Amino acid sequence: MKEITLYLNGRFMPYSEAKIGVEDRGYQFADGVYEVIRVYDGRLFKMKEHMDRLETSAREIDIPLISRAELTDVCTELIRRNNLKKSSIYIQVSRGVCPRNHSVPCDIEPTLVIIGRDNDGPPAEYRKQGVKAITVPDDRWSRCYIKSTGLLPNILARRKAERAGAYEAVFIRDGFVTECSSCNAFIVESGALVTPPLTNYILAGVTRGAIIEIAESLGINVGEEPISLERMARADEIWVTGTITEIMPVVNLDGTTIGDARPGPVFSRVYAEYVASYTGGEIS
Ligand code: PDD
Repeated sequence: MKEITLYLNGRFMPYSEAKIGVEDRGYQFADGVYEVIRVYDGRLFKMKEHMDRLETSAREIDIPLISRAELTDVCTELIRRNNLKKSSIYIQVSRGVCPRNHSVPCDIEPTLVIIGRDNDGPPAEYRKQGVKAITVPDDRWSRCYIKSTGLLPNILARRKAERAGAYEAVFIRDGFVTECSSCNAFIVESGALVTPPLTNYILAGVTRGAIIEIAESLGINVGEEPISLERMARADEIWVTGTITEIMPVVNLDGTTIGDARPGPVFSRVYAEYVASYTGGEIS
């Protein structure tokens, strides 16, 4: 298989030539932020929204970023050089390399790495049949709106889900759903869509935003309200949503059947529209 080209600190290079210092603060402290962007048919999807969020994340932890125009040019060049069609682009910026110390010297340069590779997303049959999810306590920090590379609780939650044969782990904080290990959460109740409101405890998902817009355009009622675990378990439909996952129907939560154990009608309507928003139509 042909080696991919990536971008590291101002240069395009073959994957095997890219080296990052052993004392990179991203590696030692998870002192960095990231984005994952979808590429459909060689075109960046929802780039503006991802750039808005990356700028927020970087500003919140005080790491300087190159301009969004430069970032967009790099992503476009990676698409071209790697001939990417359906793929994902990972952007990570860390504070940089320096001798390990909690204090940060003021003169270090951030490390910026951007990798694009083919990515088909989850197997098609998952979406046809629906998947399982489990719930886990949300023991993360209180600044989950920052897309931090510090993902240890998310990784542990995902491992627990996988061991239980589940696709996702839904985080529960004080009895209420926040989000999932790498997705946001939605429920459907009597035809209306409900998702937890944006707080510091959840990431403002780009897919979440797109789904709300689509649902409203279809005349579906959308509420941004706290969702208790009991309420989620009684829902007609549950979905988890994210850049790579897109929209995934959950038909079993902690062993309890959701709806009639099949992807629901509201999912089918909204998902068809979601796909239409990146096939054929304009990609924003
Ligand atoms: N994850 N919540 C969390 C904790 C996430 O990590 C993600 C995305 C989302 C969904 O956000 P979006 O719709 O913008 O992808 C919600 C990415 C894909 C990842 O870490 O790989």
